[in-house]
Amino acid sequence: MVRLSLPVLSDLGYNPGQIYSTLENRMKCGVGKCGRCNIGSVYVCKDGPVFTLEELRKLPQGDM
Ligand code: FES
Repeated sequence: MVRLSLPVLSDLGYNPGQIYSTLENRMKCGVGKCGRCNIGSVYVCKDGPVFTLEELRKLPQGDM
């Protein structure tokens, strides 16, 4: 659902810095200890879990 919504918001004219989404479904411990939530060097629990589309586009796509 979220993956489908993000391009629609872009098409409506919102810039990537105005579109927010969350990746909290990747989290387990929530305090940076288990390593389950990392995407590249980003820890969702410590650096997010809310990210702009601009930030999401910079994350490694293979880990998503
Ligand atoms: S949820 Fe465990 S390190 Fe992020």
